[in-house]
Amino acid sequence: MAIDFKKGMKMQVTIDGTVAEAKPEERLVDLLNRTGTKISQVCYHPQLGPIQTCDTCMVEVDGKLVRACATPVQAGMEVSTKSGRAIAAQREAFDRILGNHMLYCTVCDNNNGNCTVHNTTKLLAVEHQKIPFQPKPHAVDSTNPFYRYDPDQCILCGRCVEACQNVQVNETLSIRWEDPHPRVLWDGGSTIGESSCVSCGHCVTVCPCNALMEKSMIGHAGFLTKLPKPALDGMIDLVKRVEPDTGYSAIMKVSEAESASRESRIRRTKTVCTYCGVGCSFDIWTKDREILKVEPSEGAANGISTCVKGKFAWDFVNSGDRLTHPLIREGDKFREATWDEALDLVARRFTEIKTRSGPDSLAFISSSKCTNEESYLMQKLARGVIGTNNMDNCSRYCQSPATIGLFRTVGYGGDSGSIKDIEKAGLVLIIGSNTAESHPVLATRVKRAHKLRGQKLIVSDLRENEMAKRADLFLHPKPGTDLVWLSAVSRYILENGLAHVSFLNEWVNGLDDYKKSLEPFTLEFAAETCDLPIETLKKVAHMIVEADGVCVLWAMGITQHSMGSDSSTAISNLLLVTGNYMRSGTGAYPLRGHNNVQGASDHGAMPNFLPGYQSVDDPEVRARFEAGWNVKLPTAKGLDNHEMIEAIHDGKLKAMYLFGEEISLVDSNSNFVNGGLSKLEFFVVQDIFFSNTCQFADVVLPASPSLEKEGTFTSTERRIQRLYQVLEPLGGSRPDWRIIQDVANRLGANWNYQHPSEIYREIASLTPMFAGVTYERLEGYKTLQWPVAADGTDEPLLYTKRFHFPDGKARLFPLAYSRPTDQPNDEFDLHLNNGRLLEHFHEGNLTYRIEGIREKTPDTFVEVSPELAAERGLQSGTWVQLISRYGQVRVRALVTDRVRGKELYMPMNSSESPVNRLTSSHTDKVTHTPAYKETSVRLNALPERGESPLPRINHRFGHPTPQHGVEVERKWKRPDYRVPGSPMIIHATKTNGNGH
Ligand code: SF4
Ligand code: SF4
Ligand code: SF4
Ligand code: FES
Repeated sequence: MAIDFKKGMKMQVTIDGTVAEAKPEERLVDLLNRTGTKISQVCYHPQLGPIQTCDTCMVEVDGKLVRACATPVQAGMEVSTKSGRAIAAQREAFDRILGNHMLYCTVCDNNNGNCTVHNTTKLLAVEHQKIPFQPKPHAVDSTNPFYRYDPDQCILCGRCVEACQNVQVNETLSIRWEDPHPRVLWDGGSTIGESSCVSCGHCVTVCPCNALMEKSMIGHAGFLTKLPKPALDGMIDLVKRVEPDTGYSAIMKVSEAESASRESRIRRTKTVCTYCGVGCSFDIWTKDREILKVEPSEGAANGISTCVKGKFAWDFVNSGDRLTHPLIREGDKFREATWDEALDLVARRFTEIKTRSGPDSLAFISSSKCTNEESYLMQKLARGVIGTNNMDNCSRYCQSPATIGLFRTVGYGGDSGSIKDIEKAGLVLIIGSNTAESHPVLATRVKRAHKLRGQKLIVSDLRENEMAKRADLFLHPKPGTDLVWLSAVSRYILENGLAHVSFLNEWVNGLDDYKKSLEPFTLEFAAETCDLPIETLKKVAHMIVEADGVCVLWAMGITQHSMGSDSSTAISNLLLVTGNYMRSGTGAYPLRGHNNVQGASDHGAMPNFLPGYQSVDDPEVRARFEAGWNVKLPTAKGLDNHEMIEAIHDGKLKAMYLFGEEISLVDSNSNFVNGGLSKLEFFVVQDIFFSNTCQFADVVLPASPSLEKEGTFTSTERRIQRLYQVLEPLGGSRPDWRIIQDVANRLGANWNYQHPSEIYREIASLTPMFAGVTYERLEGYKTLQWPVAADGTDEPLLYTKRFHFPDGKARLFPLAYSRPTDQPNDEFDLHLNNGRLLEHFHEGNLTYRIEGIREKTPDTFVEVSPELAAERGLQSGTWVQLISRYGQVRVRALVTDRVRGKELYMPMNSSESPVNRLTSSHTDKVTHTPAYKETSVRLNALPERGESPLPRINHRFGHPTPQHGVEVERKWKRPDYRVPGSPMIIHATKTNGNGH
């Protein structure tokens, strides 16, 4: 019966004689899975779409054999999954697969209940294979530190290729189907170690068997898999010998018993990544404290995706140099202390200092790596127990200006929508963000939309980073001038009748004043100030107004300037002028750097806001918290991070309590910062390692990393997610929330939180923005995107009905331009930019403890343009001294065309040569975010020549091989290919129902 769903009616198909209801545009394989029809499907993965390499999903539709994965459902279809022809085709297809794969499941580390090849053998009740296993003439490749490829076990399903080409879009993998013995190739035939592979792990995650495996699993998952190779080979031979007599079912029973017994020792625990703000979540597989692997599958932000850090960078939790005892300073040394001793000392000194110099002589810095509940408790301790608003977190160093830009214009200080909304944009504009390295998984979604769906991409940056190389248009403005070109583009759009007039009329206030403020921003002025051609600026304007939805992504290339807040505001102004808010595929996306930098600010770790951005000087708000906490709260705004350092130097601030923050390396002008820290009368640092900052401490408290505690993180999408405890706290370390509670109670508070869920209950009761957040609503992989109403309704996309101002209208915010600080002159003639690297997180305290990352990226460096290198006689590996107005460092040069002319770039991952010895104390005027990106230096070449700071095995030296996914059509053209179940060779046509 054919029924058209578009007319609001149901679409029905018949499956093996039973009528089922299909969803619009559903693939047949998905319908079969949804309705519980068992069907083999080795190469199909819902997040990859149909690849069509395995042919095991053959079914009969209206009498014809088709691949269920590539067949869109149509009304009235008669589907038979169990006809003789269908079964024969499925079996034949799978037989070919077993010709490429030896079933030695009992001694295989992939035998954990989720091996697709194993499970398909069982599903199809294979007893004997007709096509014998044939080893391939290729060696195992173990040259990547994190995973290995075994061609002999590779069934050539191409999932890995599809994932690498079209999900991660690193375009490293391919299969040359024309080869006599095809295998997966890295960069067309390199070793994995020397290829462009960024070790994101997508390929390993989706591999349906053991051909690609995490090295951490090999020899560790099974009971018998650690046997010496000769013994293992012997057992594999035995399996081969008995199979003709016993059949596979008997062998499978043994392997399944072995697999079942693994369940008792391998734990799978859901967690949320501790690195960047994308908010990837995944299961971590552990055996006691051993981390076997990370398995991403259903995370709301990431699905099967991770970057190298989320997938492979967790061994730091077992590092031998974890802090496991409190430490107390004695002269120049520290001694181990008991918790009682340390906590008593903290309480006594805090009390003394508060009594003598008042509560505002103490300050508190929360961690954007720790949980929401921990930030909440820290600010409750500062405000409710000590009585000061001197409370901040590291969003001061990066994201506060973006928040201000959005507060001024649209009302909420967070991303307008979700990563899924960015994917839908007609145009993505990335400004001052090295997205592929700093927010890798989010970048994959942009790369994918650009590659597969024709999304347009404009990138404005000083460096030609990966996104810039991919962009349709790359702008390279002069440092610190983004506000000018953004405003000039807005002016051009308004002047030339290109603005979204009806949107402005209905939804936006302040147009007249804004227009007046744009007077100086002519195209000519912008061209000269920014060093961008007028035609380019016009092109940007036209691309924006012609696009079906624009999302702007920005990060520290915008915010870490003396005009960071104003430049962020200029972005939002431009979006308003062009009507790019209020629907999916539009909006403002300041990309939050740390895993919980959004959450730390959201939960009150700020000098002017209680949780939920409720102002400390609002009496009504204070009254609510005072009643809830049973205390009297301070009324005046406190000191931010920047002001705290100044206040220490001025002798006004005497004591500080900081947790999970490497302030001595990551704050700007580190010589000045460290000078301040050394003047503190009493300094408590809480961390998992003895960080650089600990050197200045009087008491060091050993904390637990994310895997050793429960709580919630909030990602850049405003997405709140639960992390579950994977491991017990190591040694005497404790979760930060417990330590903060212990300190508070020693100071007379009477807190009695037994679990972070109790803390969240309190947060929700006091904070309208989180009213409906509960641990039950966040169970497992469930998430909520704030604001969350009391009934649990959240807002993945903001501003669908109104902007967050009393009249519901957005506001254009007039701006003026001032020149960047710390400009180059004859003495300091080079501009120094700085930022992250993909593989190291921030200063590198965690990632330098990962051997594989250290092997590929052992040190920091300074990127020098080929022009400058030629002028100064530099090569990659030449040691240079960089001297700024504030300090100096010694570092090796890396000559690369990623940077141009007299612009340098230094990654921030170093404790020996931290870039912040060079940066200044200039700040954004509104938020006091340091102007890290406004630094001038001079460069002295030193006589020493070293090796290149990046070894040849770094992925940046690889040569990707972009292609359209796995290109199965080339397989179908092989002379020996025949569609299973068909008597002759059929050249199929690829239709994947996926739009690509
Ligand atoms: S980049 Fe490397 S790890 Fe990532 S999918 Fe490609 S080959 Fe696999
Ligand atoms: S290595 Fe790639 S092609 Fe081979 S079985 Fe694994 S996912 Fe399939
Ligand atoms: S670092 Fe960021 S992109 Fe990488 S896995 Fe973690 S959250 Fe995802
Ligand atoms: S599942 Fe492999 S071809 Fe359909």
